[in-house]
Parts: sequence; structure tokens; C-alpha cells
Amino acid sequence: MPDNLTIKDNRTGKEYAIPITNDTIRAMDLRQIKVSDDDFGMMSYDPAFMNTASCQSKITFIDGDKGILRYRGYPIEQVAEKCTYLEVAYLVLHGELPTKTQLDEWVHNITYHTMIHENIKKFMDGFNHDAHPMGMLVSTLAALSTYYPDSKNIQDAESRKLQIYRLIGKIPTIAAYAYRHTLGLPYVYPDNELSYTGNFLSMLYKMAEPKYKVNPVLERALDVLFILHADHEQNCSANTMRSIGSSQADPFVSMAGAAAALYGPLHGGANEQVLRMLREIGSKDKVPEFIKKVKSGEGGRLMGFGHRIYKNYDPRAKIIKDTAEKVFEVTGRNPLLDIAVELERIALEDEYFVKRKLYPNVDFYSGIIYEAMGFPTAAFTVLFAIPRTSGWLAQWQEMLLDPDQKIARPRQVFLGYDKRDFVAMEKRK
Ligand code: ACO
Repeated sequence: MPDNLTIKDNRTGKEYAIPITNDTIRAMDLRQIKVSDDDFGMMSYDPAFMNTASCQSKITFIDGDKGILRYRGYPIEQVAEKCTYLEVAYLVLHGELPTKTQLDEWVHNITYHTMIHENIKKFMDGFNHDAHPMGMLVSTLAALSTYYPDSKNIQDAESRKLQIYRLIGKIPTIAAYAYRHTLGLPYVYPDNELSYTGNFLSMLYKMAEPKYKVNPVLERALDVLFILHADHEQNCSANTMRSIGSSQADPFVSMAGAAAALYGPLHGGANEQVLRMLREIGSKDKVPEFIKKVKSGEGGRLMGFGHRIYKNYDPRAKIIKDTAEKVFEVTGRNPLLDIAVELERIALEDEYFVKRKLYPNVDFYSGIIYEAMGFPTAAFTVLFAIPRTSGWLAQWQEMLLDPDQKIARPRQVFLGYDKRDFVAMEKRK
């Protein structure tokens, strides 16, 4: 069986054999299809990249129909059960699980890059007390670029490694400072004796006590949530990271752009919207009425439901649901869970959702846990951005090292005016 696709152009009667590799054809191979010599050639039109692979990748595999997610080949269920977040971050970035020595070195290097420049604190002081934490995070990430001009050295492997330590190390510190700023509380410096998530909780919640006592159940639950959010192949923010990075911008500003993409309510901002939606519904008995409104288009979308890739239960949502029970044993049950479970039950039986293959996604249950752990709703997307840092950086580095990649620059189908002559002001209608 030849590995090619025959395309017949009925305008000219010509036939073309387009090579197939990995079940894909190269869009550039369409360019030879022309009606005349001065014709630009055929392009494919694919708004929102519904059926276009923008890269080849070895990082994350998703089978959306079967509900499968794997990092570097390892099923999400196994890494969520057996690894720490930093171990997974190493795996996502390096391609292999670390040995004990590699992990110790990795954790040490990240831990020793958690401090941020004192001037960054002053920079953050400039935000209003009610500034959205994602707005603060995005701006502060971009501001960090001015402190590390060496990060422009993107072709240098050692320099990239250093920026990776800095970004993974510093993002929890920025997130915690944003939270403390909102409350008018003094910033808490990182504690190098604590784990990645333990230190984050300490920077958030430590008050006058000399050492913050981390609750091991909450520390582990947060670590699991971080593992689930580490990477998700070519989503909107990963695509932004690659796109900005392709212009050879430094990783700090590239990541500021990726975080901005995550901020949107259709992407990482959905977890915040889920909580607002659950509160608005208010009680279990109001769920059928709410579902009716969603279906009629009056009630907006059912936030935390649906996914571009998953047409089955998001495997991360399952793990989060289980983690929720463990968290509630410590924090007490979040009453919003009952509304969420009822929403899920009714939606999964309803023809509208069944027909469109709409299932709970990662954001449906994560906010309920975050709320139980004491995080304010506005901070939820920041809790997504912290662990996604490893994924963004892995995608960025893979893009830089891929000889197929160049500056990202899509084409357009121009439907505007043809050439026309300038009209003087007094003659305009
Ligand atoms: N509630 C109600 N209807 C929905 C929902 C939803 N959450 N999601 C999709 N639909 C409907 C659409 O109205 C559309 O119906 P139609 O065919 O009758 O017009 C159909 O399902 C297909 O939806 P699209 O918008 O074409 O699907 P797309 O792949 O573009 O969107 C998205 C995916 C953005 C995630 C969408 O499902 C959505 O808006 N969900 C709610 C927001 C959300 O939870 N986002 C988080 C995603 S996970 C993440 O980024 C971490």
C-alpha cells in the first residue's frame, strides 16, 4: 500500500501524490496544487487548529476518545499515585524519570532558586489590593525578564537549564506574594527545608509562628493536583508559549504570554468560573432548572464541562474527585461538592450533553478542593499556572531544538477589498 494520498484537482484535472507520514500530510505539499503558474498554490484553512498539527512532540500523549493521558509514556494515574510533582516536572522536561541522584540534584537546584529579587516585591506593592492574582502573575513574570538578561541566550543549553530552575523555583513565590499582597500581609520568604508544595503553603499561610507546620494530607493533595496539571500537549497556552518562543523571545516573557492565555475563562480560568457557577446555582434542587437554561443557551455554558480533545471522561477529573474525599477529611466537606455531583449526574444522562460528548474536565472538581483548602476563588488559575510551568518549558525547549520549527507565522485567506484608490476627506461618505 503506497504511503501517499492522491489528490485530484477537478479545476485542472491534474493529480498529485502527497506523501503521508505518521498519518499526516504536510500542508506545504499542497502548495504545488495550482491552476496557473502565477497562482500562489493551495493552502488549508483551519481556524482554531481543529485538525492541524503544529509540531511533532514526544512529551504528552492524549487519546481524547478513550480518556487516556500519558506523560512521556507513563499513564497519569500511575504518576499521580507514585511520584512527587518535581519528579514529574523532571520527567516532562527530560523525557525520563530521574534516578535518586538526579532527583536530589534537581530538587536542590529548584529549591535554591525560589527567592525573588527584593525589587520585585516593590514592583508587586504597586498593584491595587484588589488586583486579580493572574494579572499580577502575568506582569511579574514579564518583569522578571528584566532581571535576567542572560535568559535571552536561548540557544545555550546551560542558560536554558538555569532559566528552567528559576521559573519553576520562583513561580510559587510570586503566586504566594500576590496572595499576601491582596490581604495586606507581609511576604513570607521561602523555606528551603520544606517540599515544593509545603513551602508554597508556608509562603501563603505562615503567620507569626517561627516555622509553618504543613499538613501532610493537604501537602500531598496539592502535589497530586500539581502533577495533574503539569502538561497537556498543544493546548491554547502551550501553543502561545511555543509561538512567542519561536520569535526567540526569552522564556520569562514567553511564559508571561502563556500564562495570559491560561487566564481566559475557556482555558485555565474555567476553574474559577465553575465555583462562581456552583454558588449561583446555590442548591441541589436548582440543578435541573440550571441545566435547562444551559441547553436553551440562556444560562451560558456549563463551566468545567466539555473539552476540545476529550470526548470521554477527563482522566484528571476522576483523580481529582478521589483526592477531594481525602482533603475533605481534613478540611470538612465543601457543600458545593453535592451540587457538582448532582450537575454531573444529570448532565451525563441528558441527551444534549451525551450527544455532544460533553464530560467533566479537569476544572470541574479542582476548584472545590482549592476552596476547601482555603484558596480564594480568584487564585485558582494561579494554582494551575504553577505546575503548568514545567509543561510550558518542556514545550518551549522541544520547539527550540526541533529543526523543523521556525518563527510561527500562520497564513490567512484574504477576503477584504482588492486595490482601490485613496479617497480625500471631503469626498468620504
Ligand atoms: N456547556 C454547554 N454546551 C457546551 C459546552 C458546555 N460546557 N461545551 C461545549 N458545548 C456545546 C457547544 O455549544 C456546541 O454545541 P452546538 O454543536 O450545538 O453548537 C458543542 O458543544 C461543541 O462545542 P464547541 O464550542 O464547538 O467545542 P470546542 O472544542 O470549541 O470547545 C471548550 C471546547 C472551550 C472547552 C468548551 O467545551 C467550553 O467552553 N467548555 C466550558 C469551559 C471550560 O470548562 N473550559 C476548560 C477546558 S479544560 C482546560 O482548558 C484546562
